[in-house]
Amino acid sequence: MDISENGRIQSQSSDESAGRFTDACRQAQKSRLQAINVPLLTWYKANGRMLPWRRDSQPYHVWISEIMLQQTRIEAVIPYYSRFMQALPGVADLASVEDDRLMKLWEGLGYYSRARNLKKAAIVIMEKYGGFMPSRYEELVGLPGIGSYTAGAIASISFGKAYPAVDGNVLRVVSRILESREDILKQSTKKRMGTLLAETMPKVEAGAFNQGLMELGETLCIPKGEPKCPQCPLAGFCLSSLHGMAGQIPVKSLPKERRIEKRTVCILEYNGYIGLRKRAPTGLLASLYELPNVLGHLAKEELADAFRLEEEAGIAGERLPDARHIFSHVEWRMIGYKVRLTKPVQGYLMAKKQDLKTIYPLPNAFSRYIKLIK
Ligand code: ADE
Repeated sequence: MDISENGRIQSQSSDESAGRFTDACRQAQKSRLQAINVPLLTWYKANGRMLPWRRDSQPYHVWISEIMLQQTRIEAVIPYYSRFMQALPGVADLASVEDDRLMKLWEGLGYYSRARNLKKAAIVIMEKYGGFMPSRYEELVGLPGIGSYTAGAIASISFGKAYPAVDGNVLRVVSRILESREDILKQSTKKRMGTLLAETMPKVEAGAFNQGLMELGETLCIPKGEPKCPQCPLAGFCLSSLHGMAGQIPVKSLPKERRIEKRTVCILEYNGYIGLRKRAPTGLLASLYELPNVLGHLAKEELADAFRLEEEAGIAGERLPDARHIFSHVEWRMIGYKVRLTKPVQGYLMAKKQDLKTIYPLPNAFSRYIKLIK
């Protein structure tokens, strides 16, 4: 780094000076990260929560829990995890589970392609690895649905290998420690932080180290509200905390705006049965079941046409409350109707009301309306 006579840091004037700046910076960042290893491990051993998947570090347990935790908070995951393990206690069970049953076990967690990838990967593990989860990082990232984060978590927690597991929590903690203003939504930032961690993390107890970083991000170095720096074991090493900047870091670019879709949802009821449809095998909520719905906000008079009800089959629809559901790229703004049919209609799977809870995987997007079915 060049300091001019007036004390300002000079702008990088050539590739060479840019190179020196980067090297010096990287070295300083590596030293700072290395310094957290011991205090973080000590803190995690004393404060790590006893979670169901931590009772042992079996790779199957770590794998399933990590995939569930990618989309949902720990407290919310616990019941899903326990139910999943009861139903599918091992890789062989997962590899042979029926698709609808798997989706039902996943119902409510969202991102159903993750569950589909679990089954695909389980089949590969059965066929290629004799039913045992591979221990090599390169083999793990080669499995469907397993990226660098999950491979790092399994390799470190189950097999004790020194690979980082960089999720949003870890990116936030590391950015704050280094007072880095790099955009954490950029893939390049994630990659650079991963490389820094790989070079500095402890070679033993790598699993505890990774989980310690995640745990710190979930409990003290939190994303919303004031981070709890006074209780943090790393506050003395953390540039953002020392400079009073923890609230301003990490930097995140604005996410892309979501497309808004208006939809009309219909509860078609006939004699204790509810009309369902199965969604297309590709695209959003692929192969799941749904309440019949169409694009646009329709008036009562338009229902018969849109849902192909013969005029005499439906008693005029009763308007239900509006609902909203946010997916990653699209938001549904829904209005709803309930139509009591006076005779069965073609084109719908008529499901017994009580089977909606146990048999048919119905995405959360419809939960407002499903709850109204008594
Ligand atoms: N978040 C995701 N995975 C986790 C883990 N293994 N420990 C703590 N928090 C987590």
